[in-house]
Amino acid sequence: MDAAPSPQDPAERRVRELVTARAEGRMPTPAEQEEITAGLRQVYEEFIALRMHYQFGIDEVLTKVEILRKEFEQMHDYSPIEHVRTRLKSVESLMEKALRTEGEMTVRAIRERIHDIAGIRITTSFVADAYWIADILAAQGDLEVLTVKDYIASPKPNGYRSLHLIVQVPVYLSTHVEQVPVELQIRTIAMDFWASTEHKLSYKYEKNLPPALRAELDDAARVAHELDQRMERLRSEIRPQAAPGGGSGLFPGRPGPAAPPTNGDAAG
Ligand code: GTP
Ligand code: MG
Repeated sequence: MDAAPSPQDPAERRVRELVTARAEGRMPTPAEQEEITAGLRQVYEEFIALRMHYQFGIDEVLTKVEILRKEFEQMHDYSPIEHVRTRLKSVESLMEKALRTEGEMTVRAIRERIHDIAGIRITTSFVADAYWIADILAAQGDLEVLTVKDYIASPKPNGYRSLHLIVQVPVYLSTHVEQVPVELQIRTIAMDFWASTEHKLSYKYEKNLPPALRAELDDAARVAHELDQRMERLRSEIRPQAAPGGGSGLFPGRPGPAAPPTNGDAAG
């Protein structure tokens, strides 16, 4: 793969030239070798800083999610959020994706084309809660929604369901503000159970699942979906009232999380 060198980045271009020359069997002079080492050190340091900024992005969004969880628990003795997990792409998998997605290998270019360096996965009990969280976060002024993929309404052909948002948050550093994109995956426990099993199987069979297993997994996706629908019906029996608004209107027509009856209500 011959990625076009960046005209804005002569240092990176020079390192690339030297590395290519070396790969072609021309040994670098000691001065060139020093240049390569310095160049690589700079790229490495930029990567470390980049990952740190994405970790801060995770911290910012995580705080928002935790506030919503605690506020809701405090008000209603119940939380629409079951679990929250975060992950920062490892340097290895970041490099792998940067190479696979074929573009410049500069930090600037990588930032632009890879949006899942920082990830947060939120698991909810009910489908409506997944939409509610997405909606409430999207309504926050300092958080910008870059993309929405609703794989709950439109599951992937393999049966994968989840709500994917890329959101961008400002991270205040000492010298400037960095806008950091964070991938949010929001899904129910049933969707999450299916996805993690599918992921393990795909990994084990390197995406070539035997047909019998494929069929089993398809059926499990159907059962998980059915379970979510049944739970949704049960939920609306127990907690008929939607919590009052506050959302962004990202998903019009979707009810908010059901608030449990307040003290004194018949269904106590
Ligand atoms: P990449 O998958 O990272 O290349 O990004 P993309 O632009 O294709 O986004 P997409 O929304 O398809 O997937 C992003 C992430 O969602 C993945 O990295 C997985 O964590 C998860 N995901 C997407 N599809 C599946 C799936 O079929 N099975 C499982 N288990 N996870 C999935
Ligand atoms: Mg994908």
